[in-house]
Amino acid sequence: MTQSQKNALIVGASRGLGLGLVETFLARGWRVTATQRSPSPDLARLDAQSLRIETADIDDEASVVALHDRLASERFDLIFVVAGVATQAHDPVHAVPREVAAQVFLTNAVSPIRFAEAFLDRLAPGGSIALMSSILGSVSLNESGGWETYRASKAALNTLARSFEIRHRAENISVLILHPGWVRTDMGGQEADIDVATSVTGLADVIEAQLGRPGAQYLDYRGETLAW
Ligand SMILES: NC(=O)c1ccc[n+]([C@@H]2O[C@H](COP(=O)([O-])OP(=O)(O)OC[C@H]3O[C@@H](n4cnc5c(N)ncnc54)[C@H](OP(=O)(O)O)[C@@H]3O)[C@@H](O)[C@H]2O)c1
Repeated sequence: MTQSQKNALIVGASRGLGLGLVETFLARGWRVTATQRSPSPDLARLDAQSLRIETADIDDEASVVALHDRLASERFDLIFVVAGVATQAHDPVHAVPREVAAQVFLTNAVSPIRFAEAFLDRLAPGGSIALMSSILGSVSLNESGGWETYRASKAALNTLARSFEIRHRAENISVLILHPGWVRTDMGGQEADIDVATSVTGLADVIEAQLGRPGAQYLDYRGETLAW
């Protein structure tokens, strides 16, 4: 590693936006640790010298603790929790079984913040914690309804992310709460507005421009500030 080489931890990188972010940061000369839940052929195929592949499930406390231990000697300029689910996103909340709704909230809101809290001591000075939210997490921009459980889980993530930053304000931490656009992935579907390359290029530009800026910001992939 060169002295100036930036170091990123991308959590939830087996496919979709996480995988695209890994490729983008590697292409920009970063060192990257990418996590998967189970072996990802797409991640394995990248085979770059600056890439380390780890395994972790953000909902599994023991798995997060073990990852934290394995990465004890690392300091990251960027810790980006990308992982998320959209189970039964098209059903109204009353039609979603309680356990399914609870799981969506756990994976999308509770586990990312628990992960950020656990890994804050692995953040390099001048680095940022990034969390993959969505414009659907904005309460004030909700004029169309739909995606009820998912939408509420991302609103919960936004609220928890703000509280996380306030809790650590004396440490001047930088928290980036990001909307990737509506992107053609397994989750976004083929009707979505933009491809993965457009989204992750924009997200990486935003991250590099905002890296280390204290406070909590809610930004889209073009760098526009979103209303809470
Ligand atoms: N696509 C869009 O239009 C869009 C828009 C706004 C926000 N987002 C957000 O962007 C993020 C990535 O979305 P995507 O479109 O790339 O979705 P995706 O293609 O469905 O990928 C989801 C990723 O999250 C991982 N994951 C899920 N649960 C996990 C857990 N408990 N622990 C660790 N990893 C877990 C998955 O791993 P496995 O392969 O093991 O399942 C996969 O790598 C999500 O947070 C999503 O809510 C997406």
